[in-house]
Amino acid sequence: MPEIFINGQPYEADPDQTVLQVALANGIYVPYFCWHPQLSVAGNCRICMIEEEGRGVDIGCNMPVKAGMRVLTESEEVRSHRKAILQFITLNHPVDCGICDKAGECVLQDYHYEYNGSPSMSGDPKVRSTKFYDLSDRIVLDNERCILCSRCVRFTHEISKSHGLGIEQRADVSLVRPSTDGSFRDDPYSDNVVDICPVGALLSRSFFYKARVWYLTKTPSVCPGCERGCRIDIWHRKPEWQVQSLDTGENTAIARITPHENSEVNGPWICNKGRDLARIFERRRADGAMLKGKPASVAEAATEARRLIKAAARPVALVSSWGSNEELEAFRASLGSMFTALVKPDHLPAAGEVLEDDLLIRPDKNPNTGKARELFGTAPAVIPADADLVLVWGEGCDFSKIPAGARIILLGSWLAPENGHADVFIPVSIQTERSGHYTNCQGVVSGFEACFPRAPGVADAEALFAQLAGAAP
Ligand code: SF4
Ligand code: SF4
Ligand code: FES
Repeated sequence: MPEIFINGQPYEADPDQTVLQVALANGIYVPYFCWHPQLSVAGNCRICMIEEEGRGVDIGCNMPVKAGMRVLTESEEVRSHRKAILQFITLNHPVDCGICDKAGECVLQDYHYEYNGSPSMSGDPKVRSTKFYDLSDRIVLDNERCILCSRCVRFTHEISKSHGLGIEQRADVSLVRPSTDGSFRDDPYSDNVVDICPVGALLSRSFFYKARVWYLTKTPSVCPGCERGCRIDIWHRKPEWQVQSLDTGENTAIARITPHENSEVNGPWICNKGRDLARIFERRRADGAMLKGKPASVAEAATEARRLIKAAARPVALVSSWGSNEELEAFRASLGSMFTALVKPDHLPAAGEVLEDDLLIRPDKNPNTGKARELFGTAPAVIPADADLVLVWGEGCDFSKIPAGARIILLGSWLAPENGHADVFIPVSIQTERSGHYTNCQGVVSGFEACFPRAPGVADAEALFAQLAGAAP
């Protein structure tokens, strides 16, 4: 383990680390734009300048450690280089922070105030470029804001491997552009470039001018889009920034979804399906219990369900692969001995959806099939012909396969025609309204928390199971 000295203090380093990595690992602030821990070193932005005593300044992201080396991260020479580099980087930058979605998260703003703070020294007009370039139907590119760090390009070459982006031309007319074969549009991981762009050059259409980031807070969650169970952050309005008039639906809306970085499951990436979870979570909700299509209270519906369960001779339950570990265990504890329980896939792959790849995407499009099968077995979800009661929990049931004459208890969350046909329908909460855990395809357990209050008239499934078994009032 070589020992190096940063600002006079000794630090142990791995021989294959760079000085920038050692500094960051020890909480020493060094600015960087083009360097990213998951990408190759490009060394083009030059902001990470570090002075090696006796040798002068060089970029820290490409400076290998040597035993005994002495470096300075904030010397006068380092700061003056950083100031000059920021003058250069902002030479043609429009500095339109007031209308930029990245404002509040942009390191260019932060570094400018830390190291530059002066207006442009140039008297020449800024070189104008494309302001709203249609990179794909998901992403808009503002070339005036681009600092040509090449992170987005390297991402498509090294991580998603679509090779969908490149930089064309030279000097102040250089442009990030998609490859002509359209591979960026088809890249299922394309939105990660929005996260890693250090400035506001790459903008998500779904978040375009939607909110200032300081209005938002994030709740840790898990993507239910496939059995990988990527950890995510769900962004939504802070309580102190709730909308009081106009569209109050904004207060319980998902503003955006970003990866929740972790080394166990998905690192700093997620696929585009994970970004689009609002399409799943914000479908129209079922908000009232029903008995054969007639409105009832949850208590009345639970009483009737209890009666049907007691009267049934051959009850079958189709268990949800979107149930949390806690819900699945509660079902087994309360109702497991009363039913023949079969695990069903709530979601099948959608038409055109990527089925599987080498990075994250998995073929099972449900978050908790593994845990459900561990508790209830791997038998296919085929309803026996002699079943006289079928309890359906969640989506994905083919109601035409339920034997004629069998009674139906349906626990669902979304508006669906079947709700009104069931003998008993009880609406249950969704992932964004409760906390719990999923166990992913690698056996890793990840937790999610509630971001919004449970909708009125909707039951909590975990508590409901005990009620249906008669163990709770
Ligand atoms: S668009 Fe963003 S990530 Fe891509 S090169 Fe420009 S600044 Fe870097
Ligand atoms: S890979 Fe699967 S779990 Fe991860 S973000 Fe995509 S759909 Fe969600
Ligand atoms: S971060 Fe080192 S040159 Fe860009």
